[in-house]
Amino acid sequence: MSNRFLAHSGAKYPIIQAPMGWIARSQLASAVCRAGGLGIIETSSGETDACKAEIERMVELTDAPFGVNLPILFLKDDAMLNYICDSGVKFVTTSAGSPAKFVGPLQEAGIIVYHAVPTVEAAIRCAEAGVDGLVVEGAEGGGFKNPEEVSTLVLLQAVRAAVDLPLVAAGGICDGRGMAAAFALGAEAVQMGTRFVSSAESPVHDNYKNAIVEAPTTGTYVLNKKASPCIRALRTERTHKIHEEGLMPPETFANILDLYFGGDMEASVGLAGQTVGLIDQVRPVADIISDMVKEFQTIAENMSGLAKGF
Ligand SMILES: Cc1cc2nc3c(=O)[nH]c(=O)nc-3n(C[C@H](O)[C@H](O)[C@H](O)COP(=O)(O)O)c2cc1C
Repeated sequence: MSNRFLAHSGAKYPIIQAPMGWIARSQLASAVCRAGGLGIIETSSGETDACKAEIERMVELTDAPFGVNLPILFLKDDAMLNYICDSGVKFVTTSAGSPAKFVGPLQEAGIIVYHAVPTVEAAIRCAEAGVDGLVVEGAEGGGFKNPEEVSTLVLLQAVRAAVDLPLVAAGGICDGRGMAAAFALGAEAVQMGTRFVSSAESPVHDNYKNAIVEAPTTGTYVLNKKASPCIRALRTERTHKIHEEGLMPPETFANILDLYFGGDMEASVGLAGQTVGLIDQVRPVADIISDMVKEFQTIAENMSGLAKGF
């Protein structure tokens, strides 16, 4: 296969590991790169020095290309932007905010820029701002969400019809079936968060991984729709209460690290998407990616047979 995403990223397979605060660091991202996907290092934790060290560690851990995410609204100043421009990183995803101010400096530094969008309107604005591609984030996905929910199935088609940029489908994809569906709708790559946070190489506590494995397709809530941030997270006693009350207390994220790394699933909210209902095992990243590619190829071959059937 060759397509615009593969040419832009240099990855072997069109599979991105999503940026995830504190989680998307070198241990997970380098495993994804070694397996042929594109690992992404997060900077949304705001831990600037730790994130810079993680980027430097990636170069030691893998020769394969990798990317970095810049969450525009969360960046306190231009320090991380300037660091990335000088770092040798070749692929950046931006999210949370307008990429307009970031596109020029990044592209002048020879960096490809994809921006994450939850609506068609945002996709059109980003295309006008000159981004190289888009990550199209549907409502099924875990993490911060647009409260006006549109599924990946519909959003991808609508964005495909509106812009001619390479699209990365995000939200609701965890295997070759989901990848084939996304490609049928116009994607040139897929991005996965929930599948990789529950992989063997993910640094999070086993309680979090097991909660994902055990949850059904209805095992997540979209919370805090009337305030910010709106999120999709695992159903727990704590998130059930937030769901019933309709508003998420501001201190909810204060103890997120106790959940992520301490395994206390009631300490905060465990971000996860609807694919929790499809994931039934903690698996090594290399197995996830190789099975995904094989399943995608089988389905793509079967689909070409279908076209001759009429
Ligand atoms: C645990 C977790 C943390 C996330 N944190 C971030 C983040 O810090 N920045 C960001 O842009 N997206 C974040 N996301 C969203 C992902 O980038 C991605 O779009 C989403 O996970 C895709 O849907 P999926 O969960 O169905 O794979 C997070 C998702 C998860 C599951």
